[in-house]
Amino acid sequence: MSQIIALTNQKGGVGKSTSAVNLAASLAALDRRILLVDLDPQGHASMGSGIDKYALEKSVLDVLLGETSANDAIVRGLPVKYDVLPGNGDLTAAEVELLDSDQRQSRLSLALQTVADDYDVVLIDCPPSLNMLTVNALTAANGVLIPLQCEFYALEGLSALLDTVEQIKQSVNPDLAVSGILRTMYDKRTSLTREVDKQLRDFFGDALLKTTIPRNVKVAEAPSHGLPVTQYARFSRGSQAYRVLAKEMIRRLSL
Ligand SMILES: Nc1ncnc2c1ncn2[C@@H]1O[C@H](COP(=O)(O)OP(=O)(O)OP(=O)(O)O)[C@@H](O)[C@H]1O
Ligand SMILES: [Mg+2]
Repeated sequence: MSQIIALTNQKGGVGKSTSAVNLAASLAALDRRILLVDLDPQGHASMGSGIDKYALEKSVLDVLLGETSANDAIVRGLPVKYDVLPGNGDLTAAEVELLDSDQRQSRLSLALQTVADDYDVVLIDCPPSLNMLTVNALTAANGVLIPLQCEFYALEGLSALLDTVEQIKQSVNPDLAVSGILRTMYDKRTSLTREVDKQLRDFFGDALLKTTIPRNVKVAEAPSHGLPVTQYARFSRGSQAYRVLAKEMIRRLSL
């Protein structure tokens, strides 16, 4: 049975997709069988994994709508060495299309159960919103990984996210837990970073991951080549950081 981890933060541009892709690649490099689910209409996790989001025959939307099985929509045999359940702009219709359907918040959960045995870890890249897609991710997941940037507004909105996690935990998914807070685009030299660090430690304690991801231009360049930074620039600081993160997650969650 696989562990399912949702990377989520309704704040945009905090490094969700980047971390989803690079954690997937780093875990795969450590011989874990990985599925990356792209639940964001922006399709960044798909693109960053080398998949053309404009040319999908089947996507995670078809799976959510019950029109195809997860097994049939998963893209395998990619150079990135993990499998992808891809998504694209069609997902913007999900909210409306699921509106009147039964079990609309459990669609992803039910679909992933059918392929869970094929994977050690399933990572879900969420959109920057607390919408029905994110609710599906949180209903399917047993862990939540929250990437954030140590800036003045970093903590804003986190309470809404934690409230949503708590609601889903109490209603449909008692196993759900915050598995980690990940500091991305990190620069420990600034006093603001140190201040936010302290707030995060006080508030999250143990859930604050030790590994931080530095701001690194190779990390930003890699998606335009359809590759994780761990393949695009193996020896870069960004690549090293994601490899260390994978090891920390393995220890922490017994992956
Ligand atoms: N460690 C890093 N160093 C440099 N640039 C980074 C790093 N991490 C992410 N970026 C860049 O920051 C931008 C936002 O990252 P990303 O797309 O991963 O965030 P996101 O949370 O998925 O955004 P969205 O909320 O829009 O889905 C991207 O242009 C990405 O290339
Ligand atoms: Mg994203």
